[in-house]
Amino acid sequence: MKRENFSSKWGFILTAAGSAVGLGNIWRFPYLCGQYGGLSFILVYLLILLLICNPLMVAEISIGRTAKSNCIDSYRLIGEQTGMKHLGLWSFFGGWFSAFGVFLCLSFYFLVASWVLYYFLEAVSGKLMLISQNNLENEFQSLTQNFTIQYSSGLIFLLATAVVVIGGVRKGIEKTGLYLMPVLFLIFILLSVRALTLNGAEKGIDFLLTIDKTHLGFTADGFRWTPLFKTFTAALGQAFISLSLGFGILLVYGSYFSPRENLFKSVRSIEFFDTMAALLSAIIIIPAIFSAGMSAESGPGLTFISLPLVFQQLNGGHFWALAFYLLLMLATVTSTVSLFEMPTNLFIDKLKVSRFTAALLVMLISGLGFTAVTASFSGLLDWKIFGRDLFTFADWLASTYTATIVSLTMALFVGYKAMKPIIHNIRRSAHVSSGFTRYFLVTLRYIAPLGLGLLLIMAVFN
Ligand code: PHE
Repeated sequence: MKRENFSSKWGFILTAAGSAVGLGNIWRFPYLCGQYGGLSFILVYLLILLLICNPLMVAEISIGRTAKSNCIDSYRLIGEQTGMKHLGLWSFFGGWFSAFGVFLCLSFYFLVASWVLYYFLEAVSGKLMLISQNNLENEFQSLTQNFTIQYSSGLIFLLATAVVVIGGVRKGIEKTGLYLMPVLFLIFILLSVRALTLNGAEKGIDFLLTIDKTHLGFTADGFRWTPLFKTFTAALGQAFISLSLGFGILLVYGSYFSPRENLFKSVRSIEFFDTMAALLSAIIIIPAIFSAGMSAESGPGLTFISLPLVFQQLNGGHFWALAFYLLLMLATVTSTVSLFEMPTNLFIDKLKVSRFTAALLVMLISGLGFTAVTASFSGLLDWKIFGRDLFTFADWLASTYTATIVSLTMALFVGYKAMKPIIHNIRRSAHVSSGFTRYFLVTLRYIAPLGLGLLLIMAVFN
């Protein structure tokens, strides 16, 4: 079967940016900024992007683009070219792990998607504007305990995602990215202008522009490593989730990407869009929270409990709530599409079935995972692993372990074993300076493994 591909550079960039921009940017980044001291967190995040994530992104996309294959066989194909040993091990830790991580993500992402859809519908009907301040928390609580609503809204999302993926790379996935991403950014800009012109927004902006040195380790009792480590690992984990790094998704999208297009420029554009989305989300959410007199540290409930209250207090709040939850929905769809495409591509290659059959299989497996996660989370079934409900467990396993292990594998694979074919592939479309090669080598061999190792160790001991 001939491998499908993207029809243009922008198709690739916007689709990969669509995978990257999601709930992680809109919901997680702002509350982490709140928890880890505003600008201190942003600066550490940007540094990590430059030092660790940029080379890793180039590496992941290049592995797919060089091998033109799925997340598992790519390691074997490149390894065979260079006469590498232990190919099964690379495929296991790089490929099978990423497939496992993606299925974990699919299982819990549709649950979060169900909340997004529910709030969007409440915004459409106007009901969200009428819930009293005290009841907003109850509203969210009772939603999370309601199996039927969460399950049915999640299934709607699952079906919509499957329809896009069945449409194919060009007609389904690429078109969705090309049409939805501009709309998404338009809403982002509209909302940030509104947020910046709120009464009392300055306090929020001040917060975002102030470095809180304690989170960088400079505490009242002198320098301490622990707070700095905490900020560092939070920012590193966030950067991975946000860029969808280490899930094999970029690898698969890379395998659809023309070898003639400049990879560096494309990666920079994806990172630019993703970072803008995160910063704009912080600009939208934090000033709004401050202007409503609330604390920016209120954590995950920010989007579903605190923000509705902000909208209620705004002139034309109904419109702004609608715009915000629409933004959240679009961002979620483009991410679930990428999660869904990765195993679909794997099944097409490995089981030699049509795209339609492969997508049905993915739907079945992720549907089962989603059912279990929702039943456990809503309390319908008393399923727990290590004392955690399945939602918390899957989220924890995927974001802390699988993505980190896959990224570590990619860094070592390219850094120590496959530098030659990868650089050769990048050279086909861009000038590779000796400075870049050195930076690529040093980060992949030393800096990224060190950072990722630290993340793993911190996770184990937490
Ligand atoms: N990048 C997405 C976000 O920021 C999350 C995601 C992770 C999507 C992994 C796909 C795969 O929300």
